[in-house]
This record gives sequence, C-alpha cells and structure tokens, in this order.
Amino acid sequence: MTAVEPRMLPMARTTPFDPPAELADLPPISPLRYPDGHVGWLVTGHALAKEVLCDQRLSSRFELRHTVLTRQDGEVMKPQPTLPGFFMGMDAPDHTRLRKPLAGQFTVRRMRQLEPRIAEITRGRIAAMRAHGSPVDLVAEFALPVPSLVICDLLGVDPVDREEFVGLTSRVLSLEVSQAEALAARGAIQRFMLELVREKRINPTDDMLSGLAQNADLTDEELTGMGGLLLAAGHETTANMLGIGTMALLHHREQWDALRADPSLMDNAVEELLRYLTILHFGTSRTALQDVELGGVQVREGDTITVSLPAANRDPSRFPDPDVFDIKRSTQGHVTFGHGIHQCLGQQLARIEMRIAYRALMNEFPNLRLAVPEQDVPMRSRMTIYGVHRLPVEW
Ligand code: HEM
Repeated sequence: MTAVEPRMLPMARTTPFDPPAELADLPPISPLRYPDGHVGWLVTGHALAKEVLCDQRLSSRFELRHTVLTRQDGEVMKPQPTLPGFFMGMDAPDHTRLRKPLAGQFTVRRMRQLEPRIAEITRGRIAAMRAHGSPVDLVAEFALPVPSLVICDLLGVDPVDREEFVGLTSRVLSLEVSQAEALAARGAIQRFMLELVREKRINPTDDMLSGLAQNADLTDEELTGMGGLLLAAGHETTANMLGIGTMALLHHREQWDALRADPSLMDNAVEELLRYLTILHFGTSRTALQDVELGGVQVREGDTITVSLPAANRDPSRFPDPDVFDIKRSTQGHVTFGHGIHQCLGQQLARIEMRIAYRALMNEFPNLRLAVPEQDVPMRSRMTIYGVHRLPVEW
C-alpha cells in the first residue's frame, strides 16, 4: 500500500440519511488523525470491519482509546477510565464475567415475552399524540418515551425518574456540552443507580436489576455500572432509530405505503432502516495490544483503530447499490449492532420495539407527514448517536 497522508474523520453530511461522501472514496483501511494528534487507523471496508471487531488482540478498553470526537467548544476529549461493571469498555475475562449473567436475560424468547408490555406502552404514547393533537413533535411524544419507558420497566426504574435519567443520558452522549458537564451527568446517573441497586438488594421486585442484585458475585459498583450501561444504551439508540427511521420512511413514501399494505415486510424493513441509517455514525474503536497486520497494513501496539459502521454498511462489495434505501433488499450481515463479543446485547429488544412502534404509527396515522420542510428538521450531527432532535409531524 502506498503511503497515504493521515486525515481527520470525515464528519460533514450533505444529506440527512447518507454518511459523509468522502468515506466512500477511502480504501478499506487508511491512516486516521485523531484530534489529540495520535495517528491511528480508519476502517471503512465491510469485511475488514468484521475482522477487526472479532480480533482479540485489539482491546475495547476506553482508557486506551484515542477518540475521534471533539466537543462543540473545540475541547479534545481525554480518554476516561472504564467504570466498574461497564463491560462495553472491557476485554475478556472481565467482559465475559459481566456479560454472562445478562446474556440469558436478553434472548429472543425473553424479549418476545415483553411484546404485550411494549405494545401497551406504545398504545399509551399513541394516545398521548392524539391528546396533544396535530402537529406534534414525534421525538418528544413518541420516539423517546417508548424505549425509555420500556427500559424503565425492564430494569425496575420508577417511571417518575424517567425524565431525569433521559436528560442525564442525553448530556453524557452530547458533544455540545463540556467534558466536565458530561462527566457530572455520568456521576449523577451512577449515584442514582447505586441507590437503586442497594434498594433492589434489600427489596427485590420483579425486574432485571432485582434479578442481578441477587447475584452475590457482583459488587454494588459493578451492578451500578451494568445498570447504567443498560439504561443509557437501552433508550437513546432505539429512540433515535424511531425518530429518524420514521423520517426516512416518510421521505421514501412509496416504501411507507408498501410497508403499511404488507405487514410481512416489517422485519426486513427494520433491518434495512438499521443498515441505511447506522445511527452510531462515528463508529466504534479498538486499540492494538500488540503489533498486528490488518488489511495489509502494519498496525503498531498502542494504535487506535476506528471502525466506521456507516461506511461498512455502505460497502458496495457487500451491499449492491448501497445508497439505495430498499426495504425488500437483503440486509444480512449489516454491522449496525457491531460484531464479535461486544455485539449489541439489546438488539432483539431494539428490533421488537421498532417493529411494534413503526406498525402502530402507520396503522394509527396512515397519512402521517412532516409538518415542516425536510431541510428544517434539526439533525443530531454533533451527537454520538445520530438522528433528529425533533420531528414535527401532522396527520
Ligand atoms: C453494544 C448498537 C440498542 C445494550 C452495542 C454495540 C453497538 C450497539 C454498535 C457494540 C459497540 C462496540 O462494539 O464497541 C445499538 C443500536 C441499538 C442498540 C444501533 C438500537 C437501534 C440497545 C438496547 C440495549 C443495548 C435496546 C439494552 C437494552 C447494549 C449493551 C452493549 C451494546 C449492553 C455492550 C455489549 C458488550 O460490550 O458486550 N450496541 N444498540 N443496545 N448494546 Fe446496543
């Protein structure tokens, strides 16, 4: 491979649904300059992305990662130690030990048992939209409440605390606040979860956190980190898929109509929305624990490798005509939920929530449409999870 000048991660979008166009011109792996000056690697090829995410010589530990992100004020983010229990930022054997007790709780079967409750929560939010009347902000009344009420229910968080933790999570994941503010919000979530964990140890109820709290091998701090991870990962992601997913379906009206007419298309439509929108738009990163060769380049110990999930999901060698949104295409192998040992634990839950929520929306509001011109919808370009800040809709 000829030497290529390291470049910063392309971030500027020209359309709401497509990743930055420059990503498509890059080779599967290329040198990447991080805001702190580190030179690591950017992976955009689909096959190589999967390889990297499976490679145990590459670490997920947050404290080793250089970040591609800067904050609004230009502040360069410093690597943060991984909190106890926050296994997304850990390697085996710690990762294995902490993920294992949860894996049995997130099976397809267990998640299917939640369907009636998810449907009930969804009906409640449809009623709230009707009570509000047209036009309404779909994010505030539907997309955010549905998954946050579901995760509250699942973990055993009192729904009255929902708005507080939704606000705190949003601050943790926002680049528009300072790092100090984001860390303060993270601290508040931890205090909230620690209190809840202690309560569940003493007075267990019928929920996932109470179940985990009966496991004497897990410390209070570990349970706090695990609960915090589920709380945060469990609602912002799905909420943004519901918001921008609805916008994409309304933009491609013929596909909204086709999906409305034929419910059997829903499972594949959800996969295509996941692929096409890839809301973890800055991807995920790993750090080399030793010198390794990846895709024909020599990666040195200590190098950070960022995997662009949106680019991998638009790789034409894996998905023909990748920029075309088509709810009938084969979507198999998309990496929106990651790959390997860290592959999203909540993916079945997210899928079920999306299927139920999109179905309810199109059945209840068949002629739903945007209430503002598309270019006036505020996009979440500066948030770690992409989507829409607000989605004014009418019927
Ligand atoms: C991990 C995406 C919904 C819980 C991940 C990863 C991705 C992802 C890409 C892997 C990160 C990495 O490799 O570094 C998504 C998307 C979602 C979604 C796009 C919605 C559309 C959820 C939900 C939950 C959840 C609903 C929980 C209820 C987790 C957890 C991990 C994870 C616990 C860490 C897994 C591990 O490290 O072993 N998610 N997620 N996610 N996700 Fe999700």
